[in-house]
Amino acid sequence: MIKTRLTELLGVQYPIIQGGMAWVADANLAAAVSNAGGLGLIAAANAPAEVVRNEIRKAKTMTDKPFGVNIMLMSPYAAEVAQVVADEGVKVVTTGAGNPGKYMEAWKAAGIIVIPVVPSAALAKRMERSGADAVVAEGCESGGHIGELTTMALLPQVCDAVSIPVIGAGGIADERGLAAALMLGASGVQIGTLFLACNECNIHENYKKLVLEAGDTDTAVTGRGLGHPARALKNKFTRRITELEKSGATAEELENALAGSLRKAAVEGDVEHGAFMCGQVAGMIHEIRPAKEIVESLMAKTEERIKSFGLAGGVLFE
Ligand SMILES: Cc1cc2nc3c(=O)[nH]c(=O)nc-3n(C[C@H](O)[C@H](O)[C@H](O)COP(=O)(O)O)c2cc1C
Repeated sequence: MIKTRLTELLGVQYPIIQGGMAWVADANLAAAVSNAGGLGLIAAANAPAEVVRNEIRKAKTMTDKPFGVNIMLMSPYAAEVAQVVADEGVKVVTTGAGNPGKYMEAWKAAGIIVIPVVPSAALAKRMERSGADAVVAEGCESGGHIGELTTMALLPQVCDAVSIPVIGAGGIADERGLAAALMLGASGVQIGTLFLACNECNIHENYKKLVLEAGDTDTAVTGRGLGHPARALKNKFTRRITELEKSGATAEELENALAGSLRKAAVEGDVEHGAFMCGQVAGMIHEIRPAKEIVESLMAKTEERIKSFGLAGGVLFE
């Protein structure tokens, strides 16, 4: 059994967090991952506070294990959601797209474990100073909104920069990735894309099919010009956005073209107008499985891999 500072901090069996994913990570997915021994997260995204409260209450009826909420700090409802997580006694909050500093005192008073997602060592340091309990260092292999650095470069630098536990994210979909993250200094991992291919994930069937069919080079990054790049499967939508960017479209035109595109993918399965956000590891995912099977087989194989010390990769000691 692998125990780390993260399993101790969260009180979970395995050092695996299911990433908060807007329009994807609902109570059903979060509870399934928590029941499997990891930490499931409900994504608050841009949802109104009462919607998030309902998902939290639903998750409580589905699991007695700890679960968390991911709060997008850019959301117009972020302040209300920040209050809801405290009122509802949520155990863990992860934050993206901003600095959670102003909520920290209230969350700490409510006993919440706070884990910001960071794209750089500098931000990780700032979060540690603000009182964060851990950070997620997320590399640009990830699906969804991304930073500049790869997981391989970012993770050890964040581990060197802070003394709180670091969780590696981006590009992890099997035991090799998990073992590598631990080797780079992480106390655990956050996984998004692999959980898209999960029975308990309520996204449209077209979305799951596209993930299963994708190869290693089938994702593209759009939105760099806007300052918030995001990775999704290449399709008519990403090509149109890329063309708009090249043609010098205004920020407003781009924002209009992007509006609602993840919902179109996740809820409607609209293969032409949807942004099927997905990481570079999609090419490693070939089947839909229950969360319990994904988590348990990942941990069992990681233990085997660590014990065999990577010899399967051809490393020999003389
Ligand atoms: C469809 C999708 C939506 C996402 N939405 C969010 C989000 O709302 N908030 C957030 O912090 N991260 C979000 N992410 C990032 C994930 O939480 C996670 O860090 C990332 O997927 C890890 O990399 P991987 O996809 O290679 O596993 C999203 C990722 C995906 C694939």
